[in-house]
Amino acid sequence: MRKPLIAGNWKMYKTPRESLAFLEAFLPMVEGHERDEIVLFPTMSSLGYVLDRIQGTNVRAGAQTMHWMNEGPYTGQTSPTMLASIRCTHVMLGHSERRIYAHETDDMVNWKLKAAFGHDLTPIVCVGETLDKRQTGLTEAVLRWQIACALNGVEREVASSLIIAYEPVWAIGTGSTATPSQVQEAHRIIRREVAERIGQELADSTRIIYGGSVKPENAGTIMSQPDIDGALVGGGSLDPETFSRIIKYPKA
Ligand code: PGA
Repeated sequence: MRKPLIAGNWKMYKTPRESLAFLEAFLPMVEGHERDEIVLFPTMSSLGYVLDRIQGTNVRAGAQTMHWMNEGPYTGQTSPTMLASIRCTHVMLGHSERRIYAHETDDMVNWKLKAAFGHDLTPIVCVGETLDKRQTGLTEAVLRWQIACALNGVEREVASSLIIAYEPVWAIGTGSTATPSQVQEAHRIIRREVAERIGQELADSTRIIYGGSVKPENAGTIMSQPDIDGALVGGGSLDPETFSRIIKYPKA
């Protein structure tokens, strides 16, 4: 009942020309692939081009971040209204690189999440512990806190499109993937916290995806865990061939 979702986070890679060249190669490779949802997250400068090019295909695209207000004197920001106006369907919120380098707080993630629901943008809320927190036994506390803050005051009636990405900070871009049982355990904690905040029924239908050094070689094993509903792929999404191999992971 939870359709798997494979997302490509392009971070600060690819000009518009490079993004379109990627799509020329990639779209035929995944044409007709219906088992999983496919969503790309290009940079803001490529997003409009990508959204135009994927019209009528099985690929969707979203923004890597957004502001929570509709407009205002916020230099460098893009609003939910602006994203919706270019037919953007998804938005990523609270990625650890945003939390670290742009000082995004749990409160901001919460405001952005409410704004996403208010504009019919499907949100992917990213959570995850640092290595230090894992080593000191605080993984569960961190995950529960991040989820509780993100969902603070969110009405269950509007939250049916919620997607959560569990991305242990120590596994991002490092080549060291969390083990399937570590991920399964983290996803179980997250689902329980979502149930406490917005109800069991919604928690059961919320997709929780994993991110952190996902490659064609490990995608099948990761996706075989019962609580893992997809993947958020950084480095492995930059090359069309590699990303399409991840999307076509063998089903266990
Ligand atoms: P990675 O990045 O796949 O390069 O580890 C994942 C992410 O940051 O979303």
